[in-house]
Parts: sequence; structure tokens; C-alpha cells
Amino acid sequence: MIVCETVSSMKKARRQMAGRVGCVPTMGYLHEGHLTLLSRARQENDHVVATIFVNPTQFGPHEDLASYPRNPQRDLAMLEGEGIDAVFMPSPEEMYPAGYATYINVEGLTDRLEGASRPGHFRGVATVVAKLFNTVEPHRAYFGQKDAQQLLVIKRMAADLDMNVQVLAVPTVREPDGLAMSSRNTHLSPQERQAATVLYRALTLARELWRSGERDAERLRRQIIELIQKEPLASIDYVSVADPDSLEELAHINSTALVSMAVRIGRTRLIDNTLLGGQSAAHP
Ligand code: PAJ
Repeated sequence: MIVCETVSSMKKARRQMAGRVGCVPTMGYLHEGHLTLLSRARQENDHVVATIFVNPTQFGPHEDLASYPRNPQRDLAMLEGEGIDAVFMPSPEEMYPAGYATYINVEGLTDRLEGASRPGHFRGVATVVAKLFNTVEPHRAYFGQKDAQQLLVIKRMAADLDMNVQVLAVPTVREPDGLAMSSRNTHLSPQERQAATVLYRALTLARELWRSGERDAERLRRQIIELIQKEPLASIDYVSVADPDSLEELAHINSTALVSMAVRIGRTRLIDNTLLGGQSAAHP
């Protein structure tokens, strides 16, 4: 496995790769969710490039950039075990040298949900992913449905900018009690870890209500909110029942709906989502 810390060394390693190349962008502190993306990439390509970069431009001024968990040595050992060909692990200065001035804005989609709660977040995500694509030049890139809006934003960007990359969705990997795996789960105290199952319990309630015929989006939202409010350690950032492609809030569910939420458990902000009925761009 070759580890590249500069854009030029990564481009050089890429030139040695014949056949199909799959890419899995990450911010490191790898878990089973990341490994699932990597093994999908391994199955479907001749070479796999993982990227590890805690991207400063996608964190707001009061967010957890400094405390974001990091363990590059453990990450590299895990990647070695997965049979990954190359890891691109640049420094912030390598990605954003003095004078850096170019950003990508995906309009519309990014006004809602995570975009509304975290202004500038998707500008940072789109910019770094475009830069990673330009350096790695993958045929395929893999993203998790856990970040459903991120997946939609990256698909939109790749299509709009005529990027030669297929953006693929991978289902959310969960702990046995339903909590979606996330690098941020490491911040949870044992008591908070227990409380964090409220997100999955809320999604399960939404699925049950849907199955029993509930199609009124406001009633769904209200019941989800009531369930979360019973958890003393949880505070709701948003609960959304939206069109899964446009992310516009729904009044009535005709065919499909993306139920998504952001909930703070203590100081840790967690997100999760589920798709009710059918398929969407993020849940094909
Ligand atoms: P990160 O949070 O490290 O996630 C990297 C990829 O793993 C994303 O596509 C994310 O959706 C996926 N992922 C995370 N947890 C998952 C889970 N439990 N099941 C399945 N997939 C999961 O998302 C980012 O990094 C960054 O925004 C990035 C795209 C790398 C740009 O900086």
C-alpha cells in the first residue's frame, strides 16, 4: 500500500494504476461503515484509493474541527488489512495553500437540512471532493447513505460539472442496537451512548407509522419529535420528512419520503435518516 501526502505523489501513483479505479473519501478514524464502502470499491474496481483528510473548510467556526477524532496510524493499519492500493493523506496546507481562492457551491439542495444548520458546510464538502476527484481521477466513488444529503450534493456536482466519475451509494452500517456508525460516536459517554439509540428508535417509529398507512408528513414529524423529546439527554436540531430528491419538506407523502434528523446528545451532534417507500437518488 502506497501512502501519498502530496497531490503530485498521488497523481504519480494514479498513473501506475491500469484498469478501473475506485475511490473512498473519508475523514479518517475509520469504522465498519468506512470499511463497507472500501470493500464495495474493492469488489467493483481493479484498484482502490482511500483518502483521509479532515477537511477544515467544511467545519463552521464553532464546530468540532479541533476535537474531530484522529488516529492515522490505526487507520493505515486497517487500510493495509483491506488490501487498499493507495492512501491519499494530505495536510491542510497541501490542499489549501496560501492564496487558495476557489470554492464550489451547489445551489438549492444545500439550503436545507444540514446546509441550513451548518452554513458553508456543503461548500467545503463539494470543494474538497472535487479536488480529491481531480487528484485521484477515479472511475467510481463511494459514499454512505448515512449522509444522504451529502450524497445528493455530490451527485449533483458530478453531473453539473461533467465529471467523469460514477457516484455510488452504500447503505448505512449500524451497531447491533441500531446506532449508525460514526467517527463522532467516540465522543459519547456510556450514558450518552445509550441515549443515542433514540435516533434509530425514532426512524423505526417512522417506518412503523408508514407501514400502518400514515401519509400525513406533519403527523409523522410530530410523533418523531415527541419520541425524541422523551430522551432527556437529546436535543433536536431538526426533524425532516422531505422529498428524497429535492429535499423539500412534504405535507403529504405520495410515494416516497426521506425522514432525516439531526440530534444533539450532550455536545455531540448526530445525524441519521431512512427512506420510506421506493427509491431515490441517494437510495437507489
Ligand atoms: P466521513 O464522515 O469520514 O465519512 C466518509 C464516508 O463514509 C461518507 O461517504 C459517509 O457517508 C460514509 N459513512 C460514514 N458512516 C457510515 C455508516 N455508518 N455507514 C455507511 N457509510 C458511512 O463524509 C465525510 O467523511 C466527508 O464529508 C468527506 C466526504 C470525506 C469530505 O470531506
